[in-house]
Amino acid sequence: MTMGTTVALGVSSSISVYKACEVLRGFQKNGLEVRVLMTLNASRMIAPLLFSALARSKAIVDPIQEESGGSIAHIELAREISLFCVAPATANVIAKFAKGVADDFLSTFYLAVDSPVLIAPAMNEAMFLHPRTQANIRALKAAGVEFVEPEKGYLACREEGWGRLAAPERIVEEGLRLVRRSRSLAGKRVLVTAGPTREYLDPVRFLSNRSSGKMGYALAAEALSRGAEVTLVSGPTALLPPFRAKLVPVETGGEMGAEVAARAPEADVIIMAAAVSDFRFPETAGRKLKKNEFDGRIALVPTPDILEGLGRSRRKEAVLVGFAAETDRLEENALRKLREKNLDIVVANDVKTEGIGFDADENQVVIIDRNGRAVRTERLSKREIGRLILDEVEGVFGRKNR
Ligand SMILES: Cc1cc2nc3c(=O)[nH]c(=O)nc-3n(C[C@H](O)[C@H](O)[C@H](O)COP(=O)(O)O)c2cc1C
Repeated sequence: MTMGTTVALGVSSSISVYKACEVLRGFQKNGLEVRVLMTLNASRMIAPLLFSALARSKAIVDPIQEESGGSIAHIELAREISLFCVAPATANVIAKFAKGVADDFLSTFYLAVDSPVLIAPAMNEAMFLHPRTQANIRALKAAGVEFVEPEKGYLACREEGWGRLAAPERIVEEGLRLVRRSRSLAGKRVLVTAGPTREYLDPVRFLSNRSSGKMGYALAAEALSRGAEVTLVSGPTALLPPFRAKLVPVETGGEMGAEVAARAPEADVIIMAAAVSDFRFPETAGRKLKKNEFDGRIALVPTPDILEGLGRSRRKEAVLVGFAAETDRLEENALRKLREKNLDIVVANDVKTEGIGFDADENQVVIIDRNGRAVRTERLSKREIGRLILDEVEGVFGRKNR
C-alpha cells in the first residue's frame, strides 16, 4: 500500500474496544496512516491517549473543539481518507449511521465520507439478533456499507453466541481489500444510463415504463466509490444523483441516444441500465390534443436502438454492458442479446418475479460474459448487485487492456 494513504478508524464503546489497538497496528504494518475517531463513551472505557500514541496523531472525540480554529475537521478528514473502518461498532453506532443521526464526531463523519465504509459490529447476541439491529444493518448494506460479520463464541457478558468482534486480522484484511478497490477505477471514465424515457404524444401525454432508475444510480454510486469519473445520463426519476456524479438529465430516447453517442468515444466503461422505450409516436403535437381528436387508434414507430449502435461504434478496449429484462428463458435470451448487440457483459433480469427488478429496491440477476460464463447472484440490494456487476466489469476490462 502506498505510504501516505490514510484510514479513519472509528472506535465505539463495546467491551471489545481494546481490540481496536490491534486493528490500528494491522493497518500501520501495511503502510497505512491511521486517524482514530472515538465516541465519548469509548473514551470513558479507554483513554484516547493510548490511541493518540499508537497512531502518532491526536484521537478525535469531540466534534466541537475550540482549538480546531478555522478548519472543519470532519469534512477535511473525510476527503483525505481511502477507508472509514469502524471497529468495534456498537448497536448504537450502527443505528445512528442507518438513520443519519449526526450528534457526535463519529456519526457526523459518516455522513461526510465518500470513501468505502467498513463496519465490524460487536455486541451481545440478543442485541445483534434484534430485528431493529438487523434492519439497520440491511439498510446500511443497501447504502453501500460493507460489514465484517461478528463471530459466534464466548462473549464478555458471559453468554455464548453471535456478536463477538471479528478477529482483528480479518478486519484488516477486508479493510485493505476496500482500500485497493477505492481506486480500482481511478482515472477511468464510466458512462451509465438510468431510468425510463418519455415519448410525448402531445405536451402533456407520454409513453413510458416502470423503470425507477435505482439500478443505474446504484451502479453509478459503486463506480464512484472505486474512484471512477462517472457520467449519469438519466431519464426522469425521483432519485438524487450520487455525490460527485455528473448528471445529464434527458427525457426522450432520442435525447438519451444523442447524449450517449457524444460521450461514448471517451468512455472506458459504458453501462446501459436505462429502460429506453422501443416505440415512439410518429410525431408530437405542439398543443394538447382534444378527446374527440382520437379515433381509438394511436400509431407507433420503433425508436433507434442505442445499445446496438454502441455495439458497432464504441472503442474496442471499452467494456460495454447491457441489461436484458426477460420474462422467460432468461439466460438463453440474454446471451442472444449479448451476441446480437456485440456486448461484453449482459445482465439478465427476471422481471416476472415480484419484489425484484423494475421499480424495486432489490434485484437478482445473472451476469453473463462473452464466453458464456455466468454469475448467478442471490437476491440483494441494488447497490450490492452493482458491486458484483462492477467486479465482472473490472475483470473484463483487465483482460481487454492487458
Ligand atoms: C462494560 C460495557 C460494555 C459494553 N459493550 C457493548 C458492546 O459490546 N456492544 C454494544 O453495542 N454496546 C455495548 N455496551 C453499551 C454501549 O456502551 C452503549 O449502548 C452506549 O450508549 C454506546 O455508546 P457509543 O455507541 O456512542 O459508544 C457496553 C456498555 C458497557 C458499560
